[in-house]
Amino acid sequence: MSPTQAQAEQARARAAELRALLQHHAHRYYVLDAPDIPDADYDRLFAELQDIEAQHPALRTPDSPTQRVIGQVLPGLLPVQHARPMLSIRTETDTTAAGAEAFDARVRRELGLAADDPALSYCAELKFDGLAINLRYEDGVLVQASTRGDGQIGEDVTHNVRMIGQVPLRLFGTPPPLLEIRGEAYMRRDDFERLNERQREQGAKTFINPRNTAAGAIRQLDSAGMRDKRLSFFAYGLGEVQGYAAAPATHSGTLAAIAAFGVPVCPEHAVVHGPAGLAAFHERISAERDALPFDIDGVVYKVDSLELQRQLGFVTREPRWAVAHKFPAQEQTTRLLAIEVQVGRTGKLTPVARLAPVFVGGTTVGNATLHNLFELRRKGVRVGDAVIVRRAGDVIPEIVGRIAEPRTRYVPNFRMPATCPACASVVLRERGSVEHRCSGGLFCPAQRKQALLHFASRRALDIEGLGEKLVDQLVDSGLVKGLPELYGLDAARLAALERMGQRSAANLVAMLERSKATTLARFLYALGIRHVGEATARDLAGHFGSLERLMDAPPEALQQVPDVGPVVARSIHTFLTQAHNREVLQQLRAAGLHWEEHDARAASSPQAAAAAPLAGRTLVLTGTLPTLTRDDAKALIEAAGGKVAGSVSKKTHAVIAGSEAGSKLDKARELGITVLDEDGLRRLLAG
Ligand code: IVH
Repeated sequence: MSPTQAQAEQARARAAELRALLQHHAHRYYVLDAPDIPDADYDRLFAELQDIEAQHPALRTPDSPTQRVIGQVLPGLLPVQHARPMLSIRTETDTTAAGAEAFDARVRRELGLAADDPALSYCAELKFDGLAINLRYEDGVLVQASTRGDGQIGEDVTHNVRMIGQVPLRLFGTPPPLLEIRGEAYMRRDDFERLNERQREQGAKTFINPRNTAAGAIRQLDSAGMRDKRLSFFAYGLGEVQGYAAAPATHSGTLAAIAAFGVPVCPEHAVVHGPAGLAAFHERISAERDALPFDIDGVVYKVDSLELQRQLGFVTREPRWAVAHKFPAQEQTTRLLAIEVQVGRTGKLTPVARLAPVFVGGTTVGNATLHNLFELRRKGVRVGDAVIVRRAGDVIPEIVGRIAEPRTRYVPNFRMPATCPACASVVLRERGSVEHRCSGGLFCPAQRKQALLHFASRRALDIEGLGEKLVDQLVDSGLVKGLPELYGLDAARLAALERMGQRSAANLVAMLERSKATTLARFLYALGIRHVGEATARDLAGHFGSLERLMDAPPEALQQVPDVGPVVARSIHTFLTQAHNREVLQQLRAAGLHWEEHDARAASSPQAAAAAPLAGRTLVLTGTLPTLTRDDAKALIEAAGGKVAGSVSKKTHAVIAGSEAGSKLDKARELGITVLDEDGLRRLLAG
């Protein structure tokens, strides 16, 4: 071997080694999300391979990690004839347990099974909301990626799919000579949010939803469109396969094999038995849907045995062995009828879309937030437009964008009013802020109403029955101007209000009475101080232990509390030092509002901690207490140095039982543990 030959051989060997190393690390990084080397080390290996390939262009193979290159521009997407058609799945909307039973019954009938034959095994999966992609691997190397198209003919999108870090350019292990892997390209919600965050920073148009963004990027001719979009991939099956001697006999086995080849498979799939197993999967997933890091639109059930799948076959384009059960759609198109402005508790003006009612995310939606003027402008929506409304989980419905259709008449762009729609005070916007605010403060009836509603809300003082209609009536009639007047209401005066009977009036008075016994944390949250949410209120209450100490605290002392920075500290300090707010606090206490206080400074010393009434003791709560919620009871016990456990054991100091107490009470009796009611708890707390 000549010296140059020896050098070339060395380069070839090193390039192969680097490719394997980079492949291993890319899989750990993109697929497993568990890198085992720092990014800088990866970059160094990558640069070394790039160098070698620059010097020896013949070594540049298509599966090289350096070949995920941006900048390929195609004149058009080429058609791809699928070797095996890409099927669709029969979709059903009867997603109750009855739906699972109907599917199972149909499959059993088709297979000629008798009632006493054992339950069938199914592979239950998520129905991903993205774009179906066929990945063709020859000798383990990705040679082509195509979209589904009409199922027979799709489009070649190899240039873009190569940019998806999760899609391996070369498979691990010893894959068969020809293997098509099918799955869904999608975008995670956090990647989508980050993308839109960047768009906002640059004043560029925001994207509508993860699905459209992923599908749009993949179908672009220019792969530069993929540069700023991080897409992901989940495999859910195979296409054409040749020479696969070790092919598994089940669908779930196939998924495991695909994962072993290095292609991501969603971990949220399960082999379940019979219709009850399917229904349980459905129930679990619909409860977890909003917490998933990506959008799904339902679940898919597949007969797990591939032999049974073969026996079942197809009807037109749909296999008899699979069904999709869709969840309620979280996005719908509707018409924007008007844009109104709402004044919030802190005076913030929010443009709100009035919509032609649509069924979305499981309820009928007629209003949706447009957040602020700048967000509205970015979305470019105008009255009369067809818009997409999104309602996911418990989040307030929002307008995500408009359907691009030509407007048939001129509609002026929306403008924020110069004066507050509720009180005519001047509307202001701080420099650099996107929020418009009414300057009227508690003079503004809208702010007053919102303050009352917040005060009465479930997580604040929880005054049931004090809803929007009643607050409107109370404020509009002049009966209630501020928070303290609430406690001056009597049943007779309430009953005189329109639509208010004797019974509801008496109920409300009782609820108001009940709300007087609360916790400092709830009380602070209920005041609606700007920037003070539940968590901050709890931290403040825990840190200062009493309202007086909190009121006396200078901003520096407030900043000792975790997560309280200068802005929050200033907001709390300003609120608590204003004379009219101090008067409100004083009046509320005079009306009888009360809570347990403790001296946090004293409690933090070890001696004091040991002296705390419940120090070192574990209590268990069960059933519904007459006035304390479970959270409140827990907070009080913890403030007194005790712990709350979920189950009763010999170590339990006492069980606090309310009405409808369950098995924990039985267990306590069995073990001879003290059982107390709410009054008993209060005595314990008092020490
Ligand atoms: S299997 C024989 N599994 O739904 C069935 N498809 O209507 C072939 N999809 O366009 C597909 N999640 O992109 C299958 N877990 C899943 C899926 C899934 C989403 C999409 C797929 C296809 C459509 C089928």
